Formats: sequence, structure tokens, C-alpha cells
Amino acid sequence: MGQRLRILDVGMGQGTQALRLARAGHTITGLESDPEMLKGAREALASEPAGIRERVRLIEGDGRETGVHFLPGSFDVVLCHGVLMHAEEPDAVLAGLARMLAPGGLLSLLVRNADALAMRPGLAGDWSGALAAFESESDIDRPGPPVRADRLETLTATLAGIAAPLRAWYGVRVFTDNVPNEVGLPAAEELERLLAAEDRAGRTEPYRRVAALLHLCGVRG
Ligand SMILES: C[S@@+](CC[C@H](N)C(=O)[O-])C[C@H]1O[C@@H](n2cnc3c(N)ncnc32)[C@H](O)[C@@H]1O
Repeated sequence: MGQRLRILDVGMGQGTQALRLARAGHTITGLESDPEMLKGAREALASEPAGIRERVRLIEGDGRETGVHFLPGSFDVVLCHGVLMHAEEPDAVLAGLARMLAPGGLLSLLVRNADALAMRPGLAGDWSGALAAFESESDIDRPGPPVRADRLETLTATLAGIAAPLRAWYGVRVFTDNVPNEVGLPAAEELERLLAAEDRAGRTEPYRRVAALLHLCGVRG
């Protein structure tokens, strides 16, 4: 067993990643604003063994108000995956999250990539959509209201400004962003190859720059 980390998962949803991290031996605090999502997370947690359940704390609350719930510097890792796209003032959210980190702690962000919004409509042959996406700062190509997208360069500057400078970044969903949700997962061996190809592209120039999502890792100085 490696180091046991204190992890805060902001916008944990139904807790898929939080539970995986708890199973790996870490202590998890999940903060989630949607009661329905939180209910799903509680149900998922209830079916885990006691040893894992006791390492997970679930809290209903807003990721913009971490200071209400926790003391500064109380986590080794803060996850904020798929949440910033719903935030109107991302810089304020990020500054609050960085304050939760102990020195040397990791801020892990998963955001929509504003530099590559034309890829999905373009690869689907939707030329009007692709042309509109070049002019857009939000993702307008999904059902539901548009969501914010972020640029690598802007977030790099933000992370530097909140004393959690960018240490590494990856592309996520380079090849598979156009696969409809209703298409199930391929068989195990094919899935392994798919994930290996995605992982490789997500770490490799220039592929990672056109990924649908960006994974950014900032480290608190
Ligand atoms: C796209 S889901 C991502 C879930 C999970 N982090 C994952 O990566 O699978 C976004 C989640 O963030 C939650 N959320 C959005 N804004 C939030 C906020 N300000 N504070 C707490 N949770 C928030 C939503 O309710 C939703 O459950």
C-alpha cells in the first residue's frame, strides 16, 4: 500500500471515482450540491464493506463554499472533475479549492477544451456546427444548456496565480468523443486497446491538444 491521501472530490456526482479511491486505501470527502446525485453516492457507498465505508464522508454543499466546510490546507488532493463547466466564475472556485490543499498537494481538474470545440461537429460532418464552434467559448453541441469550456493557456495562468502551478496536463477523449452515449462498451480486450490508444494520444503531441476534455494537474507550492 502506498501513501494514504486525504482527498476532496468536489462535484463527486454518484461517487464513481471517490469509491475507487477509497477502495485504493485513501480517505475521501465528497462534496456534491445535487441531492439526487448525493443519494446515488450514498446508495453506492452502502454496498461497500465497512472498512471502505468508514474512509468516505459525503457532504451536501457547494464547491464554491469549501471554506464553510473545511479548514485551509486539510487535503493532499482536490479533484474537480466535470464541474468547472457549470461555474460562472471559475477563477474564484479554483482559488477556493487551492486554499484547501496542503503544501505540495495536487489540484486535479477535468474541463471542456475550448481550443477544440469544432472537432466534434466537424468530425460528424456538421459544417455549420463546426463553423459556429470556432466562434464559441462554450460547448453548444450537446443537448441541454451550453456549458463553459476552458482554454489551456488561460487555466495555466490561473493556476500560476493561485499558487498551484500547472505540473502536467493530458487530453481526454481524443478518439471517442463522437461515440453516442447509448453505444455500450466494447468487449474487454477491445476496451483495453481503446483505453491504451486514448491514454497514449492523451499524453502525446499534437493529439492531446484536440481532445474534448483536458485533465490539468496543478501542485500547491
Ligand atoms: C459531470 S458531473 C461529474 C461527476 C464526477 N466528478 C465525475 O467526474 O464523474 C458534475 C457534478 O458536479 C456537481 N456540481 C456542479 N456544480 C457544483 C457545485 N458548485 N458544487 C458542488 N457540486 C457541483 C453536479 O451536481 C454533478 O453531480
